Amino acid sequence: RIAGPCSMVIFGVTGDLSRRKLLPAIYDLANRGLLPPGFALVGFARRDMSDAEFAELVHESVRSSARTPFREEVWQQLEDGLRFVQGTFEDDTAFHRLANTLKGLDRDRGTGGNHAFYLAIPPTEFPVVLDQLSKNGLAQPETGKGPAPWRRVVIEKPFGHDLHSAQELNDLVNRVFPEHTVFRIDHYLGKETVQNILALRFANQLFDPIWNANYVDHVQITMAEDIGLGGRAGYYDGIGAARDVIQNHLLQLLALTAMEEPVSFQPKQLQIEKVKVLSATKLAEPLDETTARGQYTAGWQGSESVVGLMEEEGFDPNSTTETYAAITLAVETRRWAGVPFYLRTGKRLGRRVTEIAVVFKRAPHLPFDQTMTEELGQNALVIRVQPDEGITMRFGSKVPGSSMEVRDVNMDFSYGEAFTEDSPEAYERLILDVLLGVPSLFPVNEEVELSWRILDPVLDHWAANGRPEPYEAGGWGPKSAEEMLARSGREWRRP
Ligand code: BG6
Repeated sequence: RIAGPCSMVIFGVTGDLSRRKLLPAIYDLANRGLLPPGFALVGFARRDMSDAEFAELVHESVRSSARTPFREEVWQQLEDGLRFVQGTFEDDTAFHRLANTLKGLDRDRGTGGNHAFYLAIPPTEFPVVLDQLSKNGLAQPETGKGPAPWRRVVIEKPFGHDLHSAQELNDLVNRVFPEHTVFRIDHYLGKETVQNILALRFANQLFDPIWNANYVDHVQITMAEDIGLGGRAGYYDGIGAARDVIQNHLLQLLALTAMEEPVSFQPKQLQIEKVKVLSATKLAEPLDETTARGQYTAGWQGSESVVGLMEEEGFDPNSTTETYAAITLAVETRRWAGVPFYLRTGKRLGRRVTEIAVVFKRAPHLPFDQTMTEELGQNALVIRVQPDEGITMRFGSKVPGSSMEVRDVNMDFSYGEAFTEDSPEAYERLILDVLLGVPSLFPVNEEVELSWRILDPVLDHWAANGRPEPYEAGGWGPKSAEEMLARSGREWRRP
């Protein structure tokens, strides 16, 4: 579907997120013909720039990061709708100028009073910007004859740093923008492979009968990164791996993997099921045995020697911020009773990979000579979120030859081989959905608060219990993470 007449205002348009992700995604949408011809993009930032300099900034980020080929006529059309408003967030006159700019766009480009406000700024700046939008009548559309125009706000994580601050933030946002106009970005939900979890589970007959505690032994959700924190100390120090990605990306992956079938794919129905499963999810205890955390030290990543966290610029050497986190969750429902969900994430691990592995119980009986099944593991279905997107099924197969020896093999589905269609980048999909007003891929405040409710006890536990364990860059995390699974005779997969 193509978005109707509208504009998008980006606060913090000169920042990293905007330049690397948002601006290129908007160009890609235009290039695919998914934006209306009169679409307008308004940049708001502190830095003083002429309209021409702003156009140059957008042009540069499109040239360096867009995924679709550069086409002059598409660029021209987008460029005609670019506007820049300079000012600080405290500056009333800048917001008057913004209001006038939007009125002008309604008149000249037919944006119809429909405006999305993207807050690509730190959450500490939200209050003043929300207040200005409200004061200047930008948050609520004027109603008159004809269909009412819309106003929407887009916010990026972190949505608070614990349950209490998340509630405060939600109150603050909802005071200005009613919940159905708030779009919270969790870019994992924009990924093709993540949306496919629901297709895999609910479009097929093959998996659902075994998708439960009778057959599943445990689930491992891994988000491993090879990058370190170079340059991001300012954001990351004091936040850490659990708040940065478990609270949002990994708990959303868990929700999609564990939820019941929604009545339909209407956004409301999806939300109902996600909220239900998150309400049933708890940390397994005792926390010093069921969780692990670490900080990377210097090491080798492939042939590159890399520094440890404490040597990264801007990192406080006394910091207890974890760069690796693993937790064990229980989903207390009939479907999942007794099945541990292990979640782990880390920086500077062996390689970049995100996957969900559903690991099945062993066959109750093996009618083979024991020596013939030494290389038979547990069956697994692995959803490869990224890179090398696809799904792997792992099962035992007879080794060719005269004896009945059985060994694990893989059956693979790979996006690259199965489809010729191109996957849009996550931000492309999400920005289009904001403009279309389709909320399915955006967590509602209840989900955010439930995720903090799950995570808060472990954050408190860690805060009260000394330092994270060091682990070597290029490896697979701290020893305590291995022990965490070994206690129940399990081990992490080596993706
Ligand atoms: C972000 C985190 O949400 O996701 C980053 O803040 C992380 O720390 C990034 O590097 C990873 O995203 P992706 O899409 O590359 O897996």
